[in-house]
Amino acid sequence: MGHAVSYEDDGTPQEQSRRKFMVNMVVGLSGVIGLVLGIPLVATMIPDSKTGGATWSPLSDDEMKKLQAATEKPIKVTFNVHTVDGYLTPADDEQFVWAIKTTDAKMRAARPELFDGKTKLTYPVINMGFVLFSPICPHLGCRYVLDTDGKFLCHCHGSRYDDLGVHIAGPAQRGLDPLPLREHDGKGEVTWIHYKGNEPDHVILSYT
Ligand code: FES
Repeated sequence: MGHAVSYEDDGTPQEQSRRKFMVNMVVGLSGVIGLVLGIPLVATMIPDSKTGGATWSPLSDDEMKKLQAATEKPIKVTFNVHTVDGYLTPADDEQFVWAIKTTDAKMRAARPELFDGKTKLTYPVINMGFVLFSPICPHLGCRYVLDTDGKFLCHCHGSRYDDLGVHIAGPAQRGLDPLPLREHDGKGEVTWIHYKGNEPDHVILSYT
């Protein structure tokens, strides 16, 4: 009975005010900690779909030489994408793209959707005489390969694309995704873009 009475006892006014102060302090501190941890965390979860999120990755001298020596056969070009991800230490992530030597006229004839209408790209498809294709299959994101016939094949569900990225078979809803290329101080630079899969439009998910 004595214990029950002590639970109901609110204490002296000084004790009540001390308890209130402690509760307010804990709530206040939790709020501050939540903000400090939460804002960068939320920021990393929002895809940056503005051009301001794009970064240019330079091609090494060796990769530039490969481009200069390229014929119309697709070649792999490797480069490092600099990633800055929330609290993680910034890192260089090695990626590659498929480079195909071609002309604006050929691409316009083969892939008119990249130049006009809803699926049009906001950057030049051809630059320095090349189109660069993201190596990510636009169906569900596997990496496709260059097949023996010079066309591209994704082993995951059988999507096929010709050498200019035209979708010719399988479940993908669009052709291969060109990535931006530019010449800067005599070097080629690439922007890595991760597009959303399994839909006809080019929806940017992230730049890393
Ligand atoms: S992910 Fe390439 S065909 Fe499905």
